[in-house]
Amino acid sequence: MVKITKYRVTMNPEREQQKEAKMKKLVRLSICLVFVAVAVGGAYAKFAKSEDAIKYRKAVMFLVGQHFGRMGAVVKGKADYDQQAFNRNAMVMEALSQLPWEASMVPGTDKGDTTLNAAVFDKQDEFKASAQAFETGAAKLVSVSQSGDLSAIKAQFGEVAKSCKGCHDKFRTK
Ligand code: HEC
Repeated sequence: MVKITKYRVTMNPEREQQKEAKMKKLVRLSICLVFVAVAVGGAYAKFAKSEDAIKYRKAVMFLVGQHFGRMGAVVKGKADYDQQAFNRNAMVMEALSQLPWEASMVPGTDKGDTTLNAAVFDKQDEFKASAQAFETGAAKLVSVSQSGDLSAIKAQFGEVAKSCKGCHDKFRTK
């Protein structure tokens, strides 16, 4: 009861209305800002310099190569199969598979210490589809590797290998 009375006393309808109008304006403004940020920032906002984009995607690709290689050794019979270790490598690769694409689509970053082919910029849809094929394949390798069925694992590993080659053939310079 006390609270209600206090509220009534302090409430000034005009001021409340002004406050509400201000709030609405602020909300509208921040919604606009979010849209602008998404539209302008998009894929490129994260890299201050083109070198950073190059370093970023190469670093991720290097890690992909390492974890892929560890699994490859098992698939080729050069290393013992340890279900847990294989599954961990697959999980790391799946996480990595989502990372290097924005950094690969920054215009102008085919120049410098890089093997990225400028075709990426002209054929973005094709590049994205290639990336998606790898992501899907890497995710499937995680679930297959949980089964411990080595021949199914080998088959899925082969699918992922095809997706690496498919992209490299089109989007890396030799
Ligand atoms: C959708 C395209 C795409 C897919 C899929 C892809 N790569 Fe790459 N990869 C690239 C591009 C582009 C580069 C060149 C990056 C650069 O030099 O800036 C690259 C570079 C590399 C490098 C060299 C990194 C370095 O240090 O310069 C390795 C290793 C590599 N990829 C391994 C793999 C493996 C293994 C797979 C699959 C498991 C794979 N990539 C899948 C596009 C792809």
